[in-house]
Amino acid sequence: MSGGCSTLLSQGLLGSSRQCMAQEASSVVADSITIIDNRTGNQLEIPIERGGIAASEWQKLLPGVWFYDPGLTATAVCDSSITYLDGDNGILRYRGYPIEQLAEHSTYLEVAYLLLHGELPTAAQFDTWRHEVTYHTYIHENVRKRFLEGFHYDAHPMGMLVSAVAALSTFYLDAKQIFDPESRRKQIIRLIAKMPTLAAAAHRFSVGMPFVYPDNSLDFCSNFLSMMWKVAEPRFDANPVLARALDILFILHADHEQNCSTTAMRVVGSSHADPYSACAAACAALYGPRHGGANEAVIRMLTEIGSVERVPDFIRSVKEGTGGRLQGFGHRVYKSYDPRAKIIKRTADEVFAITGKNPLLDIALKLEEIALSDEYFTSRKLYPNVDFYSGLIYQAMGFPLEMFPVLFAIPRTAGWLAHWQELLDQDSKIVRPRQLYSGPEARDYVPIDRR
Ligand code: CMC
Repeated sequence: MSGGCSTLLSQGLLGSSRQCMAQEASSVVADSITIIDNRTGNQLEIPIERGGIAASEWQKLLPGVWFYDPGLTATAVCDSSITYLDGDNGILRYRGYPIEQLAEHSTYLEVAYLLLHGELPTAAQFDTWRHEVTYHTYIHENVRKRFLEGFHYDAHPMGMLVSAVAALSTFYLDAKQIFDPESRRKQIIRLIAKMPTLAAAAHRFSVGMPFVYPDNSLDFCSNFLSMMWKVAEPRFDANPVLARALDILFILHADHEQNCSTTAMRVVGSSHADPYSACAAACAALYGPRHGGANEAVIRMLTEIGSVERVPDFIRSVKEGTGGRLQGFGHRVYKSYDPRAKIIKRTADEVFAITGKNPLLDIALKLEEIALSDEYFTSRKLYPNVDFYSGLIYQAMGFPLEMFPVLFAIPRTAGWLAHWQELLDQDSKIVRPRQLYSGPEARDYVPIDRR
């Protein structure tokens, strides 16, 4: 780490009266940092391992001094071997495999196996995996009748999904055996298999259509599309181009290291809650517009802009701070073009060749063109992210806006579970951060008639 004290301060090392000063390295930088504690004059040597300082080291040397990092922007919360992300260079890899290669050659189910097992499956392993996932797609009738059908007629499908996933824990009591490998394996398969069923059921209910049972002769995405769209035909055969496009989108969304929902999964998992409860928490995190709801916001923004001619005015309003943010642009980690957005842009062309072009596409392309040549966006390293084009595809495929976060949750379940499993294998401590207290000093209770 270079930059010494200024780096630490900018990363949030706090305390108005607790100041530190790092010795600026004058020549060769060692893999440690030297800090002078101005309160005591003590000089402290803190080792840096793989680009980080272990909190345990920090605590030993400076007990009671916390890193103030509310958005965890400068904190590595775990050691993970699942997904590699280099935001400056637009690189994303699952278990070492570039996302571009996986999107081109793999399937979502194979990627889910890879994330969870660490290696691509052999043909025999994949057959078993596919068979198991396929034959766990049914949900208990009471999940549908008592839970899903108990919602108000206009319930948001994501709200229904969050609740239904949590409800699953009451149907699989063995899920509490989180250190039993066989139980763990079973819950993982159940969750991956049942998410599309729950998702489609939530949609059908919200539009007043009857539930469609899974068709286990179909592949993962075709089965989901059948549960979504089947009406009276004996078998729903999804257009293979659309099923493949959905599969690619599922691959791209399967994991993204320590995003908000995965962190929620790890936080809840660290208390040793069962995986359904932890997954429900992750789904809830994904529900928010800053995370899984961003592609919906993109569509709303494009619809509001309304025409290509109005794009320059809109960009101006974003820059002036009156038009809100340019939705689908910017990312906490990517400071260059999101590699997933590049793949999605290509996939969009294939989908539009079948569905007809989404009329909002031209507005999106114009926005991208102007933003990428505008100093406001380039200086802040704001590029299109995964959500900029994904909503256009989902909309062209007929999915209502409310289903967008649900479509995100289906594949991200594989990533959540991979992280949950990893955290248990690592025997991680329960997540319990500290705070900087800024409330009132101790004071005496005042009876209500004297306030
Ligand atoms: N449009 C206009 N200005 C922006 C945008 C945007 N989309 N994003 C960031 N900025 C500006 C921001 O105003 C700030 O400017 P200044 O330094 O002058 O105050 C600067 O860029 C840095 O912004 P930030 O809020 O500190 O960045 P962040 O890393 O906290 O936020 C983000 C990341 C994704 C929340 C944000 O870029 C954003 O709100 N984007 C729009 C919503 C969106 O597309 N979200 C999907 C994220 S990708 C899906 C996922 O992986 O979950």
